[in-house]
Amino acid sequence: MLVIKAGGSSITRAGQKPVFDRRAAARLAAAIALLDEPLILTHGTGSYGKPPAVRYGYLDGRIRRGAAPVTEIKASLRELHGLFVAELLAAGVKAVSCPGCEVFALKRGRLVLSATRRLSSLLARGCVPVVNSDLFPCGGGFRVVSSDAIAAELAAAFKPRLAVFFTAAQGLTGPGGKVIGELNAAGLKLFRKICRPSPGDVSGGMAGKAAELARLNALGVDSFIADGRRPGELLKFLSGGRACGTLVRAE
Ligand SMILES: Nc1ncnc2c1ncn2[C@@H]1O[C@H](COP(=O)(O)OP(=O)(O)OP(=O)(O)O)[C@@H](O)[C@H]1O
Ligand SMILES: [Mg+2]
Repeated sequence: MLVIKAGGSSITRAGQKPVFDRRAAARLAAAIALLDEPLILTHGTGSYGKPPAVRYGYLDGRIRRGAAPVTEIKASLRELHGLFVAELLAAGVKAVSCPGCEVFALKRGRLVLSATRRLSSLLARGCVPVVNSDLFPCGGGFRVVSSDAIAAELAAAFKPRLAVFFTAAQGLTGPGGKVIGELNAAGLKLFRKICRPSPGDVSGGMAGKAAELARLNALGVDSFIADGRRPGELLKFLSGGRACGTLVRAE
């Protein structure tokens, strides 16, 4: 089984306006359709989710009551979700929309999977649950829950043989800009020391993702980080070939 996260950076065009990248999403969906094992998908928000966080000042992920037009932002995130699910269906993936807020809850600030049975029964029927990241009710307001955290939580619950993170980079890159082929726990610890946080990114950019990778590593789940615009690299990797991307190996 696989858990795959499609970064918002791989299915939207970067910028201030929300733009779905249909071609990139279709390419990704076509590669996913070739996978022959159970999988759960989650996806990020890219240009649908990041600009509002800057505009309404919730880069720390916390939205106080009345601080942002939450219902409009949630509707926009849902629009992206619908567009991606439609591309998956068009490619032949048996995708079933499972909105993040319906399968997870925030309990005392912690993300908790509340619909394990629903996801399991979809998997048993050969369907592919697709979970989106969203703004979750929390305290008197809302909180951003990133799809990296959702992917990690899904992997913690389902223990896939691999968690895949499609993003805008070809893998994790070192200080010289070269893609790191493989990292173990110690290597990931070092990577986290040199990976700078992205102050303008509500979900923490690569540093935020690396924190979730460390969590998966500790749980014994291998991760593969690859370019979402070159999804064929995952197919190569799974068939044992040389592929561009970073394997974070759990020991
Ligand atoms: N050491 C690094 N290795 C690889 N990418 C890095 C590194 N440091 C920063 N990045 C940047 O991190 C970005 C990927 O993170 P980002 O959060 O933007 O994408 P995502 O998680 O795929 O999308 P989303 O957050 O919308 O779901 C890449 O565009 C890359 O430029
Ligand atoms: Mg991100």
